[in-house]
Amino acid sequence: MATPTPADKFTFGLWTIGYNGNDPFGGPTRPHLDVVEAVDHLAELGAWGLTFHDDDLFAFGSTDAERQAQIDRLKQALADTGLTVPMITTNLFSQPVFKDGGFTSNDRSVRRFALRKVLRNLDLAAELGATTFVMWGGREGAEYDAAKDIRAALERYREAVNLLGDYVTDKGYDIRFAIEPKPNEPRGDILLPTVGHALAFIQSLERPELVGLNPEVGHEQMAGLNFAAGIAQALYHGKLFHIDLNGQRGIKYDQDLVFAHGDLYNAFALVDLLENGAPGGGRAYDGPRHFDYKPSRTEDMTGVWDSAAANMRNYLLLKERAAAFRADPEVQAALAAAKVPELSVPTLAEGETYTDLLADRAAFEDFDAGSYFGAKGFGFVRLQQLATEHLLGAR
Ligand code: GCO
Ligand code: MN
Ligand code: MN
Repeated sequence: MATPTPADKFTFGLWTIGYNGNDPFGGPTRPHLDVVEAVDHLAELGAWGLTFHDDDLFAFGSTDAERQAQIDRLKQALADTGLTVPMITTNLFSQPVFKDGGFTSNDRSVRRFALRKVLRNLDLAAELGATTFVMWGGREGAEYDAAKDIRAALERYREAVNLLGDYVTDKGYDIRFAIEPKPNEPRGDILLPTVGHALAFIQSLERPELVGLNPEVGHEQMAGLNFAAGIAQALYHGKLFHIDLNGQRGIKYDQDLVFAHGDLYNAFALVDLLENGAPGGGRAYDGPRHFDYKPSRTEDMTGVWDSAAANMRNYLLLKERAAAFRADPEVQAALAAAKVPELSVPTLAEGETYTDLLADRAAFEDFDAGSYFGAKGFGFVRLQQLATEHLLGAR
């Protein structure tokens, strides 16, 4: 069962398996990976799709003919393998021109150039049938407080996303946008640093229905946040449009480890939520399971493909573990004892008002709050131990 098939909807960024191991302290450890080879290998491993930035497929500054040649090579590889391109994204960070951002650079000419680069890439997204367009604003931010007027920057971000919404609407493209929050790196502080910030921003847009989130495991964890809980809130608001899966160990630089090679408990909770978390059970999210990781700098090309396979296998193993957890009668009893299902019962009865609540002596005057807790604990620790035993394969 832990063998991936396209039905699992696993996708990979071309920049993930294509990462050559370069870092701020030293040069690459691996050769350039050609897109056709990437597609072939991913298809062999059982993946469903490939995603990419414009600059991953054709180098920045390519002529129209060079660009088209690469697009044609990709299309041929997709046709040969059945792989899909469900998401694409624009590189607004690698070139020196973007060092102060794309949509929110202090320099207006840069902002206009960034918008043109994205519009061109939206046409490509539509051509390839991608329905999600990710916006990761790694350079949209600052290091120094006086250097960036944050409110003006948010207004320019808003202007940009509104314009892109107009464009896909006027063109009739079946494309939605997914904002990817990240707290820092490469900028000292990035705009829309967490899921919560981005959710609030989306509500300020002219077409909020077109814009959702692409949260990444490591990005929320870099801010010390609980990723599974953030995903639950994104689902609650109907804003989980896409997801970046990887691994991270605590509050430090963006590690981009293989999925589940970081916080394993949270990875378990996440897969359980995605696969079993719909109200009443079943899949809570049906979109691509997208891996945005970096094969470690210590690995050769064999290690790259091993790590790609490991992402998918870990997801499927956790899916099995989560199914066993949910099916275990002792877990169900522990959930009931912990009153987890009771949280779904509204606090007021149907039709009840605050006047009725004020009149209910059992709720207050006769409620023995002082000794109530002493009666019985929740048993959350027992529940967590059951989760641990399922995770460790002990049950
Ligand atoms: C990062 C980000 C990127 C984005 C990608 C898609 O920390 O570098 O996660 O990998 O996901 O640029 O827009
Ligand atoms: Mn990242
Ligand atoms: Mn990402």
